[in-house]
Amino acid sequence: MDDFYRDYILDHYRNPRNFGTFERADVEAEDLNPLCGDEIHMQLQLDDGVVRDVRFSGKGCAISQASASMLTETVKGMKLSDVAQLSKQAVLDNVGIGISPTRMKCAMLGLRVLKSAAIGRLAAWPDEE
Ligand code: FES
Repeated sequence: MDDFYRDYILDHYRNPRNFGTFERADVEAEDLNPLCGDEIHMQLQLDDGVVRDVRFSGKGCAISQASASMLTETVKGMKLSDVAQLSKQAVLDNVGIGISPTRMKCAMLGLRVLKSAAIGRLAAWPDEE
């Protein structure tokens, strides 16, 4: 593993960005990796369909927590409709290293939660698109 990316992942794991919970969120979702029980909870605050702020909490391996932390930085300022369409590639670009098939579920856990929050909100409030 490339040293830079290993350090980058460990930094996000040890000092997760946007970690915590809001008292009030416009959108939230949580999910777990069924293989290990690790979980992520995401909350979004919105302004006119745009992500104004985000928090995540959870527990899990370095890849799952670091990739969720990186995603919170990615989605700040994004339209909710764009969050709903984020691709796996966005996560892989963030993480910056090859992810083995067995760790792919770890890396994608945060993305799954974010997309589920965004898609659920858009289904309930289609005008926010
Ligand atoms: Fe549980 Fe990675 S081992 S999410």
